[in-house]
Amino acid sequence: MKWKAPSLADQQHYPPRQVFEAGLRHHHIANTAYPINHNWTMKPYRARPKDLETVTVEAWQDIDRMSLYVHIPFCQARCNFCEYTVIDPADNARSEDDYFDLLLQEMEIYDRLLTTRKKILTGFDIGGGTPALSKTENIARVVDKARAMFRWQPGMQISIETTPLIAANEPDKIAALHQMGIDRISMGVQITQLSLAKKLGRQYKGFANLQKAVRHIREAGFKKFNIDLMYGFAGQSVADWRNSVEKSIELEANYITLYRMRYKGTRLQAQANQVTKEIVTQMAAAAGETLHRAGYVAPPGKNTYSRLPNDGGCSDYLTNRVVKGEPYLGLGLGAQSLSHHTLAYNRGAASKQIKPYQKSLQAGQLPIQDLYNMPPAVSMAKMISVSFYFGEINLPHFHQKFGSTLEEQFPVEVDFTLSEGLMEYRGDCLSLTPKGAKAYNGVIALFYAPAVKLHLLQRPANFSKGAGEQGSKGEKYTPAPLPPCSPAPLPARTPAPLRLTPGGNL
Ligand SMILES: C[S@@+](CC[C@H](N)C(=O)[O-])C[C@H]1O[C@@H](n2cnc3c(N)ncnc32)[C@H](O)[C@@H]1O
Ligand code: SF4
Repeated sequence: MKWKAPSLADQQHYPPRQVFEAGLRHHHIANTAYPINHNWTMKPYRARPKDLETVTVEAWQDIDRMSLYVHIPFCQARCNFCEYTVIDPADNARSEDDYFDLLLQEMEIYDRLLTTRKKILTGFDIGGGTPALSKTENIARVVDKARAMFRWQPGMQISIETTPLIAANEPDKIAALHQMGIDRISMGVQITQLSLAKKLGRQYKGFANLQKAVRHIREAGFKKFNIDLMYGFAGQSVADWRNSVEKSIELEANYITLYRMRYKGTRLQAQANQVTKEIVTQMAAAAGETLHRAGYVAPPGKNTYSRLPNDGGCSDYLTNRVVKGEPYLGLGLGAQSLSHHTLAYNRGAASKQIKPYQKSLQAGQLPIQDLYNMPPAVSMAKMISVSFYFGEINLPHFHQKFGSTLEEQFPVEVDFTLSEGLMEYRGDCLSLTPKGAKAYNGVIALFYAPAVKLHLLQRPANFSKGAGEQGSKGEKYTPAPLPPCSPAPLPARTPAPLRLTPGGNL
């Protein structure tokens, strides 16, 4: 299987300073969730519906190490801030068993098409939604099938997500999850202010309930235990946020992950303009200081803090994606899959309806909505964007994946980050400096594919305040058609040609 040839828009070069500033200007969208505006920037790479299966089989045939993500779209209530694929909670009871039947059917199809029994599974996340809301028997069906359909790397860790309410109310279920071999659990606390939680539509019963949830997680035997917190909400002060971090530290999780609120596509999208870059930078700094003082460690730019030595705190699935750009298969409603050359989204991401996903599976077809056959620039941008979860790009892994060095592919951009003091060489990585971590939205944009850079460069300034493709006053932004050739290439920058065909060297 070969790389797709780049579109004309993906053969352009833009001055790094302009791209950096565009990333900062559009900080609500220039982040690790890549690509941006894919209906436009990725359109040239979309596979025809009739080719989905052939392209998928070709893309995965040479891959022998991969991770698995299974999406469970059920929650007790939908939080207003949530960006994930969650179906209407009113449909939960009716849909759960049927949904797991469909997941098993999807696993069967991949088992058959990709001969997964020959592939080594290196990470496995069960995410959502709130997977711990599901019946234990249903989770066990998925875990058992994954065990049967892959060769598991010894010691590979399975991770699952819960809310505090479930962990507090259902200790037997939490224990059963651990007994079936799930050894990492992540619990969303988000914030500890009752009034703000209420405004956000979050079901939160106060601090004593959190303590109960933590007790049950510990008693079940989970040593790898993470708490998620969120900042950047309208109406959340730096003092509120610091207080949420301090209260969470009292819960003594081994890891704490900080999520900056991403507004795009959420019910709170229109509030993005109330939250400035300056305030989120202050919040990130306040949390970092508070966590460091309490013995939690993370390098600049990384959002997961760990208090365990030699343990970064993230799941194997996420770590393999971030550090190595390792392929992953995403199963379930709206799930995303990445091979070396392809990026696919399952049906249901936008509609949040099970029907179309179900229809494909009942016809024995892959439930894929969009499949993109990528050129190298897009695949590199995807790997690097995800790398910024940890605040650094692993250079040997980049080389191994693409057969070319980061400096050969991004000569002007790497020079810019070094000369501006935004990144520095640290061990095997090109890592964010503290200055770079504060300007991370600009730094990450430097490595985006050219069409995505162009999107940021020409996106109107008033959209810097809106989070999606809608302006602060509700106006719509329709990007100009992809340019035939614009602007003139920079003379100094010619990325080195790739020497190896990826897939063969892994
Ligand atoms: C899929 S959720 C699962 C956790 C679980 N359902 C809960 O809410 O407790 C994973 C995490 O994503 C984060 N998250 C949700 N919506 C987000 C958004 N719009 N922007 C950034 N992070 C978000 C939250 O911290 C949440 O805990
Ligand atoms: S944040 Fe968690 S509980 Fe809330 S809707 Fe999203 S996935 Fe469900």
